[in-house]
Amino acid sequence: MRHLISALDAKDQLYEILEKAEQFKKGHGPEKPLNGKSLAMVFQKASTRTRISFEVGMHQLGGHPLYLSSSDLQLGRGELIEDTARVMGRYVDGIMIRAREHDDVLEFARYSEIPVINGLTNLEHPCQAFTDIFTIKERKRTFDVHMTYMGDGNNVCNSLLLGTAMVGMDFTVACPSGYEPDPLILKDAKKLAKKTGSILNVTKDVKTAVIDSDVLYTDVWVSMGDEAEEAQRLMDLKDYQINQDILKMADSDAMVLHCLPAIRGQEITTDVLNGPQSAVWDQAENRLHVQKAILNWLL
Ligand code: CP
Ligand code: NVA
Repeated sequence: MRHLISALDAKDQLYEILEKAEQFKKGHGPEKPLNGKSLAMVFQKASTRTRISFEVGMHQLGGHPLYLSSSDLQLGRGELIEDTARVMGRYVDGIMIRAREHDDVLEFARYSEIPVINGLTNLEHPCQAFTDIFTIKERKRTFDVHMTYMGDGNNVCNSLLLGTAMVGMDFTVACPSGYEPDPLILKDAKKLAKKTGSILNVTKDVKTAVIDSDVLYTDVWVSMGDEAEEAQRLMDLKDYQINQDILKMADSDAMVLHCLPAIRGQEITTDVLNGPQSAVWDQAENRLHVQKAILNWLL
């Protein structure tokens, strides 16, 4: 059974997904390829973009999306993941899950007879990373760019490491000690990078990382689930903000990405987020086109 739980799961399909997303964006994709199919969308955490893009995307493909908050499911009252997974497969054709624990999604997939899509966990956010790569290609017309990610080496950063390595893009993570991306993911990404030629780096040194970068990327300093560490995180990450001074050090044509939601004044300043080099609104829109390509592939 095919799933998309780690970005790595689409190692051999990423180019196809990106191409299909472009077709959908141009209105040239297949008409209603998921006619009669249903997608269950289970959310243990809040969402704006992921929920809307999957829900609308499924509808546009001719299928039926079901929004299921985990607190309304028996799962929230202790029904086993394995029982839920077995039962859901009797009703729907695919499951998208946004979960607190990555292991819970793996457990779900173990018992699922239908494809499982990771809509964000503490470890990865593959649908976001594929959208980001799509957005870079859309603007720069090439994967031959250097992206610098600033701040917390979190779920989005982990999936970006894998995604950039798959397409041969150079990727630097600038983060303080203790905020590095997951070491096992970094190892997998470096293995892939050897084959594709991408250069991956993790450094504390913001300036060296940013100079001549073609893409600057950031995400919130306090992810969902990290709220108890907020004060410490704001202190530790304060030198990793994307602001005008940082932007000036990058390539003069550099684009700025943020998966959103953004906390203005923390990881990014308002002028940069709303400025001419920001591609974040296109990036958010592209979630829809890429989600459709992922659904078309898996369902
Ligand atoms: N970027 C992203 O996944 O946004 P949501 O949390 O709003 O879904
Ligand atoms: N890293 C953020 C991403 C939100 C889309 C979080 O996990 O909350």
